[in-house]
Order: sequence, then structure tokens, then C-alpha cells
Amino acid sequence: MIFEKANHLKGEVTIPGDKSISHRAVMFGALAEGTTEVTNFLQGADCLSTIDCFRKLGIEIENTPEHILIHGKGLHGLQAPSSVLDTGNSGTTTRLISGILAAQPFETTLTGDASIQKRPMRRIMEPLSMMGADITSVKGNDCAPLHIAGAPLHGIHYHSKVASAQVKSAILLAGLYAEGETKVTEPTVSRNHSEIMLRYFGANVRTEDKTAIIQPEPLLRGQQIKVPGDISSAAYFIAAGLLVPGAEVCIHNVGINPTRDGILRVAQAMGGDITLLNVNNDGEPTADLLVRHSALHGITIEGDIIPTLIDELPIINIMAACAEGTTVIKDAAELKVKESNRIDVMAEHLSAMGCDITGTDDGMIINGGKPLHGAVIDSHMDHRIAMSFAVASLVADGQTRIKDSDVVTISYPHFYEDLAGLTR
Ligand code: S3P
Repeated sequence: MIFEKANHLKGEVTIPGDKSISHRAVMFGALAEGTTEVTNFLQGADCLSTIDCFRKLGIEIENTPEHILIHGKGLHGLQAPSSVLDTGNSGTTTRLISGILAAQPFETTLTGDASIQKRPMRRIMEPLSMMGADITSVKGNDCAPLHIAGAPLHGIHYHSKVASAQVKSAILLAGLYAEGETKVTEPTVSRNHSEIMLRYFGANVRTEDKTAIIQPEPLLRGQQIKVPGDISSAAYFIAAGLLVPGAEVCIHNVGINPTRDGILRVAQAMGGDITLLNVNNDGEPTADLLVRHSALHGITIEGDIIPTLIDELPIINIMAACAEGTTVIKDAAELKVKESNRIDVMAEHLSAMGCDITGTDDGMIINGGKPLHGAVIDSHMDHRIAMSFAVASLVADGQTRIKDSDVVTISYPHFYEDLAGLTR
């Protein structure tokens, strides 16, 4: 797809549902007794992979434009699938479902697309094995396909080396079935949607500083879930609103959970004019964001804030490229093991657009303020790379061509239409 510089960006946009919360609503709804109704569910390919896997595990799920209905069968109601479970491009599906499957009285094989088959699974295989799980990498390379033979589990206290909500959630889900209590301590607290939603369904989960603690065998009951808009998707409109001269955008119903809101804190620290309106603290907090064009300056982004904006670092790179001065990003080695190696891919393609960027072992250094020009960008089949460069193209001279641009269906199927709606 070809993109051109925008001389105008104004209007309102309502962001589709949060990807992390949509996945969890289906999974926890499947493990609850009775029906769970989910509204504003993200109809992205990743969340559809989760639905597909749970249907194969015997759960009836109705997907209509109005809502999703999950007819849960309780903690012990899943059935052996008659084929391999395909998690597509979704790391969240792969890792979270592994925690559930580890405790089922049947065997499963789990696989996904070429990207998933390269992503590290040792990080869940290790703690789940410590809990008694029988989980192996079929090719012996610590990646999917994974073979999981259900086994009796026991609680552990796991000290995770990475701040990863996928790892934490896989362990907590296994903990639903384990004998005794299960604890996960992280180096920095990662997104806490599992803890919030499991509690909402009736699980006994508590947090003490950087440790999440779960008790086994709760009675989970079907619930109504209103999924907030995904701040990771809103991030592209935040950046576009800040970067395009004269822009003013109102982004409606954005989830602003403090474990996810690093993009707001960073954008404001860079000089971004963002006002939060209609803040609602009922359950997962939400707000409308009013974003106005701003002169940005470089900053250092490191430490505890990193997990709260890990998926937003590609678009933060674009903001940094347009900001005056130097932006240094550290402590973000996890970028190397996302849907693509986001350090290498961002460094390669932002350089091609004229930016002074150097990839490092755990982040990047960007000397911003040089004019960007159009280039040919390979999305590397990574939705966040495609959306980041679509925003970069709005402030770049000439044309930008993004290869495999339709990969945005993973998390934001109507992204290009929504962006074009603001530049018309
Ligand atoms: C997610 C957690 C994060 C994030 C991913 C979604 C989740 O991954 O990057 O897009 O829903 O739990 P890690 O847990 O691997 O950091």
C-alpha cells in the first residue's frame, strides 16, 4: 500500500477493543460456569485465533456483530481437541493457553504461524514444568509446536527473569488447577489484566508489590465484560495527532490501566499536548484523549516504565525521529522477540527514511529532528511495524510504500480506513 504526506489531521476516532483483554475474556469465560457476554470484543485475527482454539476444546462461542457469547463449562469442562490447536500469529494465545492445557486430562499439540514458531517458549515451559507439567517443544528448539500432556500440577513461587504478562498469566492459569497456592514475582510489574479479570470472575487472586498470588479451584462464574479501546492501537493516533502540523484528534474510550499507560507519560514528557477527558475508573479505567500537534523533544526511556509501553516502542521511535534532540531507549531487549525483531526492523527502516537511529542490545538511540523522506518499508509481517510506518509517512516527503501492509488485521482490521478518515 502507498502512503503520502498529510497536510491535515482532524476529527474523532473510536478505537477497537483491547487485544489483551479480549483474549482473556474468551479464555476465562470458557473456564467459568454459565454464559459470558463480551461487548466491544476485538475482531482481530489474534483474538479470533483464541476463539478458534476454545471452540476446538469444546466450548460453544457465538460471535455476532453485537457481542460475543461464551458458553463456559467450568474449570474442568474442556474436551480433548480432535486436531492440532493453531494459535496463528498470537503469542498471547500460545502462552496463556499452555498454562490451561498443562492441567487438562488430555494431550494437545499447539502450533502457530512462521513468526510464532520462532518465538521463545522456554519462558513458559520452564515454570510450567516446575509445576509438574509435561510440556515439550516438538522440534526441540524451545519454540512451538508444543506438545502438552496434562498432568497434576502443584503450586510454586516463580521468580521470572522477564517482566512478561504472558508468562505471569500462563503460570496463574496453571495455578487455578494446582495443589496449593501459586506465586509469580516479576522484576517489574507487567500488565495486570489477568489479575483484574480473574478476580472479577471469582478467582482468589491478590497482589503484593511485584508478586501475584492465586489460590486453586475457584468457582468462576460467567460475567459481562465491556472491553475498553486498546491504548496500543490508540498510540498510532496519539503520535499522528502530535506530529502532523495543526492536528487535533479526539480518541474515544481508551483503556488507561496504569500498567499500560506509559505511552501517555512518555508523550507528555516529550512535550506532547494530551488532555484526558471523561475519565472512568469503573473496572479497567478508560478516558477520551484529546491530542494536539506539539513540538516534541527527545528524552531517555528506561527502567520500570518499559513494560507499560513495550508494544508502543515502534511508534515512540517515530515520535523520537521527529523530536528535537536525542531519545535513548534502554532495558527493552524484549523488543527482539516480538512479532519481529523490532530493534533491527525499526533501525533499518527509519534509517531508510533519513533518520539517525542506532539499534543497541536493549533498545535504540535516535538523534531526532532530521526531515524524513518516503521509502519502501517491509512490515516483516508485524502489525505494529506497518502501523508505525503508516504514521511516519504522514510527515515524510514523497511516497512511502509498505509491503504486506494488510498484516494490521492482527490487531486493528480497519486501521487504514480510520487513519484516512482523519486526513480527508
Ligand atoms: C501481552 C503481553 C505482552 C505484549 C503482548 C500482549 C498480553 O507480551 O507485548 O502484545 O496480552 O499479555 P509479553 O508478556 O511477552 O511482554
